[in-house]
Amino acid sequence: MLLELLLFTALLVGLYFLLHSTVLRLPRCKSSAKLHGKTAIVTGANTGIGKTTAKDLARRGARVILACRDKRRGEAAVQEIIQETGNNQVIFLQLDLASLKSVRSFVENVLRTESRLDLLINNAGLMNDGKTQEGFGMIFGVNHLGHFLLTVLLLDRLKASGPSRVVTVASRGYEYGKIDFNCLTTHRDFALGDNDYQLFLKYCHSKLCNVLFTYELAKRLQDSNVTCYSLHPGAIKTEIGRYAGFWWRLLMTPVTFLFFTDVESGAQTTLHCALEQGIEHLSGHYFTHCAPLLNVMPKARDDAAAKKLWELSERRCSGQEAVGAQREFLWSVLKQSLVSDDTNSTFIH
Ligand SMILES: NC(=O)c1ccc[n+]([C@@H]2O[C@H](COP(=O)([O-])OP(=O)(O)OC[C@H]3O[C@@H](n4cnc5c(N)ncnc54)[C@H](OP(=O)(O)O)[C@@H]3O)[C@@H](O)[C@H]2O)c1
Repeated sequence: MLLELLLFTALLVGLYFLLHSTVLRLPRCKSSAKLHGKTAIVTGANTGIGKTTAKDLARRGARVILACRDKRRGEAAVQEIIQETGNNQVIFLQLDLASLKSVRSFVENVLRTESRLDLLINNAGLMNDGKTQEGFGMIFGVNHLGHFLLTVLLLDRLKASGPSRVVTVASRGYEYGKIDFNCLTTHRDFALGDNDYQLFLKYCHSKLCNVLFTYELAKRLQDSNVTCYSLHPGAIKTEIGRYAGFWWRLLMTPVTFLFFTDVESGAQTTLHCALEQGIEHLSGHYFTHCAPLLNVMPKARDDAAAKKLWELSERRCSGQEAVGAQREFLWSVLKQSLVSDDTNSTFIH
């Protein structure tokens, strides 16, 4: 009996290692780019995929800004990265994506203190219930809207530093996503309800937003030297499920243990999109396994939905339900108040 038990355990362990060294193994980013003199922002860089990404960029010599909501966790990550990479150009700047006010003051800080910006990595993400400071559903507000405003407000600095890139960490979960524009208009959220399954669906909707946002952004940046990419990092062991309910965790813990892979692997597609030369013509595309996925679902290439999402996000960020010229005026006021010393400031059309 003991021998059978031992054999069975050995078989399971063998299977585990076989799976992880074959089908679950993720490719590495092959770029050997050095980043001395370049500046990168990574949102949600105090843990998980974001911290590993920031560490890699620091190792390549970049000045890296860890944009995190929690000062203690952010500063601990800064210390760890400096210690491990020997690069002391790593700093923490407070950014709570659940507050558009915080996004604006973060951008103000960056524009005041940083003369250039080469990489913006929109990495932070969550699957929690609750509302943002402005009353948006938490998942919509953090995963999409906060990053939308952050990106738009930093575009002039990205353009001035070009060639530069915006990389947005989406998820394969976008395949289950759909955007209910009526609900977003009436309830400032993707849907009603907050049980674990509904939160998972909202997460998928937000990841579709990440993909569509990147698709639309690429069109608006066509004549500039800024390119953008969205991606699926793989199924990665991180803290993302830490606020999930008991049943969700009960279900996901063994699945995560058996089938999810390490954060080092999880950062590779982000790094590929940020660093690989020669992918500029793929701006707006969705990547996975360090390669573009050319046969994405039609909803990831829905021109009308992407435009509608952009316009809704603009209205939501300006706090007004304005149209046409009125909306552009509101944006110009919003941007002028922020970058009053930047004479080249123009909003993208
Ligand atoms: N793990 C996976 O299998 C997987 C799969 C597909 C896609 N992704 C995507 O990968 C990205 C990174 O996730 P992860 O797996 O590394 O998760 P994680 O370990 O939970 O890290 C998420 C990061 O986002 C930050 N964050 C959350 N809310 C924020 C807010 N309001 N303002 C600023 N930062 C905030 C977190 O900060 P705190 O520590 O303060 O909470 C944390 O640093 C996410 O976009 C996620 O959707 C992950």
